[in-house]
Amino acid sequence: MSQSIYPVSAEWRDRAYVNAAQYADMYARSISDPDSFWRDQAQRIDWMTPFTAVKQTSFDAGDFGIKWFADGGLNIAANCLDRHLAERGDVPAILWAGDDPSESRTITYRELYEEVCRFANLLKGQGVRKGDRVTIYMPMIPEAAMAMLACARIGAIHSVVFGGFSPDSLAGRITDCDSTIVITADEGLRGGKKIPLKANVDEALQQCTCVGRVIVVKRTGGAVDMTQGRDHWYHELRDAASADCPAEAVGAEDPLFILYTSGSTGKPKGVLHTTGGYLVWAAMTHHYVFDYRPGDIYWCAADIGWVTGHSYIVYGPLANGATTVMFEGVPNYPDFSRFWQVVDQFKVSTFYAAPTALRALMREGDAWVEKTSRASLRILGSVGEPINPEAWEWYHRVVGDGRCPIMDTWWQTETGGHMITPLPGAIDQKPGSATKPFFGVLPQIVDADGKVLEGACEGNLVIADSWPGQMRTVWGDHERFFQTYFTTYPGKYFTGDGCRRDEDGYYWITGRVDDVINVSGHRMGTAEIESALVAHAKVAEAAVVGMPHDIKGQGIYAYVTLNANEEGDEALRKELVQWVRHEIGPIATPDVIQFAPALPKTRSGKIMRRILRKIAEDAVDQLGDTSTLADPSVVDNLVANRQKVVA
Ligand code: WT7
Repeated sequence: MSQSIYPVSAEWRDRAYVNAAQYADMYARSISDPDSFWRDQAQRIDWMTPFTAVKQTSFDAGDFGIKWFADGGLNIAANCLDRHLAERGDVPAILWAGDDPSESRTITYRELYEEVCRFANLLKGQGVRKGDRVTIYMPMIPEAAMAMLACARIGAIHSVVFGGFSPDSLAGRITDCDSTIVITADEGLRGGKKIPLKANVDEALQQCTCVGRVIVVKRTGGAVDMTQGRDHWYHELRDAASADCPAEAVGAEDPLFILYTSGSTGKPKGVLHTTGGYLVWAAMTHHYVFDYRPGDIYWCAADIGWVTGHSYIVYGPLANGATTVMFEGVPNYPDFSRFWQVVDQFKVSTFYAAPTALRALMREGDAWVEKTSRASLRILGSVGEPINPEAWEWYHRVVGDGRCPIMDTWWQTETGGHMITPLPGAIDQKPGSATKPFFGVLPQIVDADGKVLEGACEGNLVIADSWPGQMRTVWGDHERFFQTYFTTYPGKYFTGDGCRRDEDGYYWITGRVDDVINVSGHRMGTAEIESALVAHAKVAEAAVVGMPHDIKGQGIYAYVTLNANEEGDEALRKELVQWVRHEIGPIATPDVIQFAPALPKTRSGKIMRRILRKIAEDAVDQLGDTSTLADPSVVDNLVANRQKVVA
């Protein structure tokens, strides 16, 4: 573990919204008097109906419930657009960089406002009403953000599905929340390759009966099938729609969006976020963590298909009137300088990305970075997985020229926004540590029995009390919400992460302690990959674990037992890899498939994943006690045939 400390510079201490003393004061007040703290903070957004109640929350079984600002009314689109028009109507809201460097767009706040109003009217024209679910399956083009904001404007609930998911995964997510409408594009474009989004929707809808309408944005102009009566071109409806659409007042606890995420059990969960608390959290964290100032050009290089895109491309920055960059492409196309060329092109001041991208670029050498200026950069961010100190140092030294503090932000789809993170003027950074809790966040480290550990320690990370950005339920399954997060350690929110706290009170996330793996900053349930594998006709059984991977953080290691008389050869290995890609999507591509005559099971039939993890890590000297296995000799075969990968 790195011992180096990067202290807050004098310049940052003086210029930031919060210095160390202010952080200590504000943090203490956020914990000791949350009602008054959050009453003040909630003033950063515009309320149509002022709230009187602030925090009404309990994590206990008896009176479980989470409500913030519950009797207030507001509209998120009005907060992100209308209120900025007078002062910033002509300022860019979105700067878009296309996959092809010759393509870009600038959309001012006024233009975005008008487009969102038209989009909202268009949706109403298609029968979408408050509370209806709208699935958005889009490439990274401004219309994706417009679609989200249009839903918010009329109180419809959006469910964005990442464009890399397969038709099957899309269908599952459409059906789970009963979407009546899907918004998509003809094709996406990434790294020069086309992604057949509309064709995927067509395939998905063969399994879904709930969808009556599909809106198709023209991106590439590629040929697509349009089903008469069901499918409509966006540009045709948009041209006919009025640009006048009053924002609907919705309750603070009315749903804003659903976002599906993987857990330790098979089916992805529809994480539900509501309106008031979420917006306060997204706007406030964006403001303090990135020390956002008017005039900054802010770029979060995530995809809107993930929560990072929701909170830190769309809602947080736009609520703050920021100029947000949207990037359609990938870091290595046309070459490894692309990120930094976009930084120079738009004079980006804040850059926020995932460690996996940084590691991939780091390995290509410094020249790709050094040939660009990056003089506009002021602050850097990291998100999605632990950043190894080596990558942190490279990011700091090479990308930021040693000048920019790095905000390593720990949070989750469930938390809505940043939870443990440095603040640029207040918290000294340690490479690899997400540092300290944000205002209102009460982290604790507990042991396996739930005992709260004090001082320097290591255990499981829980959050002891509610914060405004917290998810409110699992769509359609409130009991699952309670069971998943609040029963492992009763009365506390369980994050699923392991964590160490050092002698300075700094938090170091050590990774997931459940059956969730983090591949390139994307969260995957091992159970989902297993069920994709066993759906193949030749597969009898499968067990999937994470393994260390230089670039991806974790890779996917699958042990597969075939049906009798099937032979595990190279051809079948390739076929299974393709099969999983087709079933779930390319993000679930197994790195290793090991054919195993049998899996290590206890006498009661439970697979001992601990052993499988150790073999995948190539730590075969640490298998521990195998005597409780029904057949310990199974392990010898697994060890002898283990596969090694080169990243
Ligand atoms: C999981 C949440 C955060 C939004 C994008 C991912 C891991 C996230 C960090 C970080 C160490 C991190 C955790 C967490 N994680 N950020 N800065 N340092 N680990 O959201 O898909 O819901 O995944 O990502 O394991 O539980 P997500």
